[in-house]
Amino acid sequence: MNVDLLIHSAAQLVTCASPNGARRGIAMSDVGIIQDGAVAVQGDRIVAVGASGDLRASMTAARQIDAAGLVVCPGFVDPHTHVVYAGHRVAEFESRIQGKTYMEIMAEGGGILSTVRSARAASLDQLVAESRPRLDTMLALGTTTAEVKTGYGLDRNSELRMLQTIEALDQTHTMDLVPTFMAAHAVPPEYRGRASDYVDLIIHDMLPAVRDWYVSSQWYGEATPFFIDVFCEDNAFDVGQSRRILQAGAALGLRVKAHVDEFTALGGVTLGVELGAVSLDHLDVTRADEAAALAASDTAAVIMPAVNFNLGSTHFADARALIDAGAVVALATDINPGSSPCPSMPLVMAIACRYQRLLPAEALIASTINAAYAVGLSDQIGSLEPGKQADMLLIAAPDYRYLMYEFGGNLIRHVFKKGVQVI
Ligand code: NIG
Ligand code: FE
Repeated sequence: MNVDLLIHSAAQLVTCASPNGARRGIAMSDVGIIQDGAVAVQGDRIVAVGASGDLRASMTAARQIDAAGLVVCPGFVDPHTHVVYAGHRVAEFESRIQGKTYMEIMAEGGGILSTVRSARAASLDQLVAESRPRLDTMLALGTTTAEVKTGYGLDRNSELRMLQTIEALDQTHTMDLVPTFMAAHAVPPEYRGRASDYVDLIIHDMLPAVRDWYVSSQWYGEATPFFIDVFCEDNAFDVGQSRRILQAGAALGLRVKAHVDEFTALGGVTLGVELGAVSLDHLDVTRADEAAALAASDTAAVIMPAVNFNLGSTHFADARALIDAGAVVALATDINPGSSPCPSMPLVMAIACRYQRLLPAEALIASTINAAYAVGLSDQIGSLEPGKQADMLLIAAPDYRYLMYEFGGNLIRHVFKKGVQVI
């Protein structure tokens, strides 16, 4: 067989293979290691994975890479980001050091609403220019696909501009982006005290326009999923409002995600599981009965410990219990200018291992195949298996556990996206 690319002799070829879409429970601690492994690529797809001796004997390749002493693993998927924004919130970072909480800053009209002011004032070109370097950093740290939310526009035109920004970045950046409409991120200042009227605006004014836009976008043709999300939280949207928004989105074909239980347990998990959410995210204060329902469902649990770290908290989501109960657990950065200015999946994995007691294997599965599942793409990406997109990392270490064991540097030596070396 003739192939375009053969990477061989890897100290560990870590497949993260999962024939059934995602890994749960004890299966999360098996990353599928092939020692002295090889992977063959034709065009943008993986065509074979196996022992170096077998693949080298049965294939000729236009390009060969000797990965001796290195690890080869799937590109990371970051399934929850707010990476498109303008400006920064460095002053809030200092206020928190001096004792203010994230929720206090938000109640005073800062926080998310501060970034809404910056994003409303920014043109599409400015949003692209400010966000692109962040994607560059994420890619260099091994992220090859990321979900990206709107939610700093909060009016129809500004939300559409955010979607257009995500599309423009997807078209011009190596990384693949998966869009999420999140006008229900905060109640905008012009609707202060009238959250219910704003919910009506989202449902009757924004959603139809957004749906029309999606149908005319490149994503529709590619069958890239399109999500709707809501911040179900005190001072944002209650469970009733969240239900109305998510149901209206689902009725138009958007798939469901929600921010739940970040600071306050309102019952968002029960709602999300009932609506068949693809993922429910944060889960920092989730009640035990709701965690059990989530674990028994097909909804992914997305955990973002860089938020707790950034907010100086020592309380983290009980990801250990979720894994032990059989949930599909995934990790994400939540990169955004307030609660998590963090582009790094390896740092997220490092925190999860130390503070949430994930094994390195569980953290890697949570950042690859399970994260792909959390954005509805586990049939395309997230593992090194024949037929999947050739999104691959070469790690400058002989054992994949270095990814979590070391932190603060960058072990990603090469990144391949759709079979092409991009780093
Ligand atoms: O996931 N919690 C709500 N949204 C983001 C924070 C966004 C921001 O602070 O700008 C989050 O933490
Ligand atoms: Fe978020």
